[in-house]
Amino acid sequence: MRKIRVALGSNSYEILVGPGLLGQAGRLLRENGFAGKLVIITHPGLNRQYGEALCRTLTGDGFSISTLLVPEGEAQKTLATAGRLYQELTDVFAERTTPVLALGGGVIGDLAGFVAATYLRGVPLVQVPTTLLAQVDSSIGGKVALDHGRIKNRIGAFYQPSLVIADTDTLRTLPAEELTNGLAEVIKSAAIMSHEFFSFLEENLGRIIARDAGVLEEVVSRTAEIKAGVVMKDERDSGLRNILNFGHTVGHAVESVSGFDMPHGKAVAIGMVVAARISREMGLLDKNGLDRLTGIIEKAGLPVKMPGISTEKVMQAMKHDKKVAQDKIRFVLLESIGNAMITDKVTPALVEQVLANEKT
Ligand SMILES: NC(=O)c1ccc[n+]([C@@H]2O[C@H](COP(=O)([O-])OP(=O)(O)OC[C@H]3O[C@@H](n4cnc5c(N)ncnc54)[C@H](O)[C@@H]3O)[C@@H](O)[C@H]2O)c1
Ligand SMILES: [Zn+2]
Repeated sequence: MRKIRVALGSNSYEILVGPGLLGQAGRLLRENGFAGKLVIITHPGLNRQYGEALCRTLTGDGFSISTLLVPEGEAQKTLATAGRLYQELTDVFAERTTPVLALGGGVIGDLAGFVAATYLRGVPLVQVPTTLLAQVDSSIGGKVALDHGRIKNRIGAFYQPSLVIADTDTLRTLPAEELTNGLAEVIKSAAIMSHEFFSFLEENLGRIIARDAGVLEEVVSRTAEIKAGVVMKDERDSGLRNILNFGHTVGHAVESVSGFDMPHGKAVAIGMVVAARISREMGLLDKNGLDRLTGIIEKAGLPVKMPGISTEKVMQAMKHDKKVAQDKIRFVLLESIGNAMITDKVTPALVEQVLANEKT
């Protein structure tokens, strides 16, 4: 098991990563100061796959468990579902000290996290992420949110978990496309922060896709460490955390133009290639760097182009996005593999040129 400490003063916590952690959850929770009553929030399918066994283990360890179920899907990240969960928490007599354990992907993490942040002005939150995306990204950093109207993550809070338990064995049952989706964030983290980790990914991509236990532990813990490192320097997202948005400026625009049909990871993959090509155009990244990034994205089974999506609409969507300030688009660019920078010197004309060339 790997331990990553997220040092944030009184909001500090540990991320535990490794195979078989769900089976040791009772001990891990006790070691982190938890006892007594606990509420698990999860999906019905995940409850059958992992929740019921977890509940038995924890009950055997002296915990008293209530499980609250939420249907799958982004459509549940709403005030309506949160409202139902507040009622159910009241029904099971959850108190200020009763931890909420979010067992699932980013949807459960964001929803249960928001509920934990607001119920009784905040109850302890334990993230138990079960998708690659959640283990390396959404369970870390304390952003919890609901969608509102048609806008994603419109309502939310910064609310750090008290503990993150990432059992990498759970990734064995993850559908291939969800693994690929999470891989986009893994590649992103290596590309912006660590040349050495990027090389490791190039060598081990096949083993990740084959869900090799040792490689998964390495990949999740190293990516989690990169995110934790950035969060420690910028807990409330006031600047430095933007570095994690590599690939997301164009990615978010592509995602929104696709009417959110395109999975986030695919959109980010396209966005990373565009950002790398812009980096190359601006004389930062060399050809080898661009080729390596494109190569690993393709090898991961992610797209490097956006066929069928209009450049004009992507440009428009980007202009609506908060990252655009007075005709300049804020971009995270690569200086080399493992080194990123944030700039507002990218002109819409250059983005448009790169997007247009991309189609040929
Ligand atoms: N808070 C943050 O910092 C942050 C960061 C990135 C993304 N997010 C949010 O995360 C959400 C996306 O999360 P996601 O990609 O994990 O999707 P998800 O939570 O919808 O999970 C994807 C699917 O995989 C299933 N699943 C989960 N674990 C499984 C397992 N081990 N085996 C089999 N099936 C499993 C789920 O039931 C679901 O159907 C979005 O709402 C996004 O806004 C939040
Ligand atoms: Zn992302």
